[in-house]
Amino acid sequence: MKKKILILAALWLGQGAFAQKTFTIDASKKGAEIAPTMWGIFFEDINLGADGGIYAELVKNRSFEFFKPWMGWERKHKTFIEGQMQIKNRPDKPSNPRYLSIQLNNEKKGELGLVNEGFRGMGLKKGLTYDFSILYRVKKGNAQVHVELLNDKKEVVGQVSSRSLSGSEWQKLEMNLVSAETVLKGKMAIWFSGEGELDVDMISLFPTDTWKGRKGGMRADMVQMLADMKPGFIRFPGGCIVEGFDLDNRYQWKKTIGPLEERQLIMNRWNIEFAHRPTPDYFQTFGLGFFEYFQLAEDIGAEPLPILNCGMACQFNSGELVALEDLDPYVQDALDLIEFANGDANSTWGKERVKMGHPEPFNLKFIGVGNENWGPQYIERLEIFKKAIKEKYPEIQIVASSGTSTEGDRFELLDKELRKMNIDIIDEHAYKSPSWLYENTSRYDSYDRKGPQIFVGEWASHTKNKGGDINVNNWLAALSESAFMTGLERNADIVRLTSYAPLFAHEDGWQWTPDLIWVDNLNIYGTPSYYVQKQFSTNRGTHLLQFDQKISGQDSLYASTVWDEQTKEIIIKVTNAGSSAVQHEVNILGAKKIGEKAKLSRMFTDDLEAMNSVKEAEKVAPVASEVAVDTKRKKLILSLPARSFSVYRISVK
Ligand code: AHR
Repeated sequence: MKKKILILAALWLGQGAFAQKTFTIDASKKGAEIAPTMWGIFFEDINLGADGGIYAELVKNRSFEFFKPWMGWERKHKTFIEGQMQIKNRPDKPSNPRYLSIQLNNEKKGELGLVNEGFRGMGLKKGLTYDFSILYRVKKGNAQVHVELLNDKKEVVGQVSSRSLSGSEWQKLEMNLVSAETVLKGKMAIWFSGEGELDVDMISLFPTDTWKGRKGGMRADMVQMLADMKPGFIRFPGGCIVEGFDLDNRYQWKKTIGPLEERQLIMNRWNIEFAHRPTPDYFQTFGLGFFEYFQLAEDIGAEPLPILNCGMACQFNSGELVALEDLDPYVQDALDLIEFANGDANSTWGKERVKMGHPEPFNLKFIGVGNENWGPQYIERLEIFKKAIKEKYPEIQIVASSGTSTEGDRFELLDKELRKMNIDIIDEHAYKSPSWLYENTSRYDSYDRKGPQIFVGEWASHTKNKGGDINVNNWLAALSESAFMTGLERNADIVRLTSYAPLFAHEDGWQWTPDLIWVDNLNIYGTPSYYVQKQFSTNRGTHLLQFDQKISGQDSLYASTVWDEQTKEIIIKVTNAGSSAVQHEVNILGAKKIGEKAKLSRMFTDDLEAMNSVKEAEKVAPVASEVAVDTKRKKLILSLPARSFSVYRISVK
């Protein structure tokens, strides 16, 4: 008899194995609400994330304002004439100081011109139309501009010529041309013909297949990957670029809005950050500026979460400080940003937003003061910001830095001080090894529930700590992240926002690894970490539920469970980090009826080194299926392969 029952049970379990453990979930005992902001994204212009990345401009150094004005450009002339093309400076326009001046001596197309190499080449797509534009004035005579798209053999694959140009005031010429080929690393040639003197600036080429078809917009494939995550918020513009190498190099949002040609370019601090990954051609044009960030947030349904400089430059670099008595303009920038985002058309900064085409407010709710700043100097500056912001905008939630790590003297001091000043949200950063992530899945269990909320604002699994030269986005990293995230989710009553960092990397232009999403000029793929993040953000649920016992590392198992009020489903997320397949049983209480089939979405591979790539974009990605549920006994069997991360959705009637 005993034997028979065992056989039956084994058959029912599916693979001839027995449930090792039995867990219980009570669907009627809903816990804390999960913040809609819980799973978000962190955007920084690092690894060619913005310029050369999501900002779809194909021309590098379009206004000749890189430190070396000819960087990215090759001069072409049939007969070399000294000084025929000159970079000129206009002291009356510090926001757009340089332009190119060309003497024309009856040249014909192909005799005098420039070739732009793009950021790492230009991605061109067969049959796609490209928008070319240029600012020009004809100081003397007449001129014509001819544009060519070139493939990697330098053959012309698209071209257009202007009419004869005239007019001594600056004006814009716009033309479009179609590429006859798909080219990964193309270039653009621009030829000047005519007789006289021609000045040019802001030479630009954009694909027309941008996100929402916006002119001069963003790469649609990159935005789509973000939209697909249904992120709760987007943190921008970083990261260390907020702080800058020094204060001159800090991010100043006011210089990133308004007409493009007036957005003053600065060096990207990642240009010089890592000696082993120098990127001398990395600058910020701010074509993607604060207006566009807010618009992006709105497009993808994410709360905007801007982080501003707090009067301190990066403490790993110059560590420059603004004296407390000189902090006012920095504080004013924060107040003005809130007005820019939320103010009406009669307010000074609200008017600027309206002028840029967005009459409705952006509904800003959060503002970050400082990125990875630390020490008493940070606290005293933050106090000043806090007082000013809360006086004028008490409803705005302030996000404050707890430094660069989750422990150590700096963290201890900041954590204590931030709690003392009753800051709204503490931003913790955790770039850690896989083993740290596994060992810290209970980190937030002991956090004070009455204290500030937690934003795990930058974090990722760094495999380098296991050997090797660089951190790689392999399954080992992603699996450990999935385990850590079950811990974040179990603590969603106090952890209200989290974001992996950094977000994007260009295969030929990165400085930092690992990164969530990789691109080249034409292609994109999500890493296994991307799919793990997406599994959480698209299965967020609305309320916490609890297992009858905490599942946080026992037998290499990590799990969390939530309730989705909209769909009336229990969602179970479970990581089996062990090297053997296991089966466990879940009893569901507090439900009259449960659905016959649970939806299962699972990521797994035996190979911890497995990675995605342009060629194998979804080698490690979720696979969807359905599993039978014992509706009579209200039981679900979790049948978990070794090294797997599974998400189950069980409907409750
Ligand atoms: O995400 C990359 C960098 O890591 C961020 O710019 C910085 O905040 C952190 O040190």
